[in-house]
Amino acid sequence: MDFKVKKTNPLQQKTPCLVLGVYEGKARTPQLKELDQVLDGALGRALRDKEFSGKHREHLIFQPGKKLPAERVLLIGLGKEKGSGPDRLRQALGTATGLLQGRKISTFAVDLESLSFKRGNSKASGQAIAEGILLASYRFDAYRTQNREDLPPALKEVRLLAGKSADVTEAQLGVSAALCISRGVVLARDLVNEPGNIKSPEFLARQAEAAAREGGFKCTILNKNELEQEGFGAMLGVAQGSIRDPRLIVLEYQGENGEARPIALVGKGVVFDAGGISLKPADKMDEMKMDMAGGAAVIGTMLAAALLKLPVNLVAVVPAVENLPSGSAIRPGDILTSLSGKTIEVLNTDAEGRLILADALTYVKRHNPRVVIDLATLTGACIIALGHHATGIMGNHNGLIQQLIKAGEHCGERLWQLPLWEDYANQIKSEVADVKNIGGRPAGTITAAAFLQKFAEDFTWAHLDIAGTAWEEKGRPCIPKGGTGVGVRLLIEYLR
Ligand code: BES
Ligand code: MN
Ligand code: ZN
Repeated sequence: MDFKVKKTNPLQQKTPCLVLGVYEGKARTPQLKELDQVLDGALGRALRDKEFSGKHREHLIFQPGKKLPAERVLLIGLGKEKGSGPDRLRQALGTATGLLQGRKISTFAVDLESLSFKRGNSKASGQAIAEGILLASYRFDAYRTQNREDLPPALKEVRLLAGKSADVTEAQLGVSAALCISRGVVLARDLVNEPGNIKSPEFLARQAEAAAREGGFKCTILNKNELEQEGFGAMLGVAQGSIRDPRLIVLEYQGENGEARPIALVGKGVVFDAGGISLKPADKMDEMKMDMAGGAAVIGTMLAAALLKLPVNLVAVVPAVENLPSGSAIRPGDILTSLSGKTIEVLNTDAEGRLILADALTYVKRHNPRVVIDLATLTGACIIALGHHATGIMGNHNGLIQQLIKAGEHCGERLWQLPLWEDYANQIKSEVADVKNIGGRPAGTITAAAFLQKFAEDFTWAHLDIAGTAWEEKGRPCIPKGGTGVGVRLLIEYLR
């Protein structure tokens, strides 16, 4: 897809469709007045008849005939101007893109001036507009071999038009950033949507290698032998039920001088979670191909950060395993010795994410990180607590947590903090080992975090439970059904 910024009066642009933004109750801007005149008052009549008022994501389509060079005009509602921001703008453009693709329109132009969420904010507005379009047009359809003509067309060409007041250079910077960030989100979504039969731990490792080539950063893969030699006992315990061997994926990006301590990102990479011997019920088990969404977010973030050339050192660690029941699988009651030396009583083999993350967190200490952030589809309890509207956040450093929450609010990937008081650790005390891997029904999301905390004692750490936000069931403006790529935009916002 070709995405360009141009300095052109939008009303003089020849295009299959011109997209303009309208704030609620603010349709009398000089630009819209001019449009209304060209259209012989059609816009004014639509407003008078309350056909359209500019409510967020409301729309109106005109066919201006010979009156304008554009074949169609799409007005998209931006909601109340007060309190507008990048997230609402992104969603409005996502809605517009969906409407146009539904009409098989793959080339269009958008007007930056009417679509800016603040005057003189061409860069941030350009970024939000481009993100909205790029993220809404995402499809995972490589496996649809028949009737492909029924699918919405891929976008061909989008022009962002900077009219009189908008700054082309700034807008271009915003669009460039959006292209890098969306690339990371799309990679994360693709990895999550890939079916389990294709997506072995080895496949995930190959994909991480490809991302490292694309972004020009380092990728190291530890295979099963190496993990055995190092003593990744918890991770290997989870992996032993599958004939597909585990991999530890390690990515390193240097955006500042070599000595600077990196920020570490750790992502759960369970390529399929059947639960192991503590088998999950059949209903919706297919969705457990998304249990590597934390790993996907981390790989996508590394790629986006590298494309953006962010001035920061990063290290990412993704333990990739498959959790299946079999004659070689771990049993409830087994005791594993983790990489840290701590022993773990496994009372439920379906609480596997915390086991592989324990070893990944221990491993990442070797990189002397100044901050560690882990992302994991860790607990069904997090969906019970927060639904699909927020990622749960916990950790051992309130400053870091607040920074991440702020980044989430800014980019529209919201976080909600749960407490991690010492009291919760009582629930995971074991009689026979150092810790057990389940803490009973109460506060399941928190006891999972309390477990991870035991392996993150030596550093500044935050844990993001993305169980409710990594997978979209219905489809939303910028998030088609399937993997959402959650975490990439959040982490990039935090890093920037
Ligand atoms: N991957 C699941 C958590 C999950 C559930 C993510 C639904 C997304 C949607 C995790 O490995 C798991 O099975 N957790 C158990 C923990 C329990 C056994 C303590 C759960 O949530 O039931
Ligand atoms: Mn599980
Ligand atoms: Zn899992």
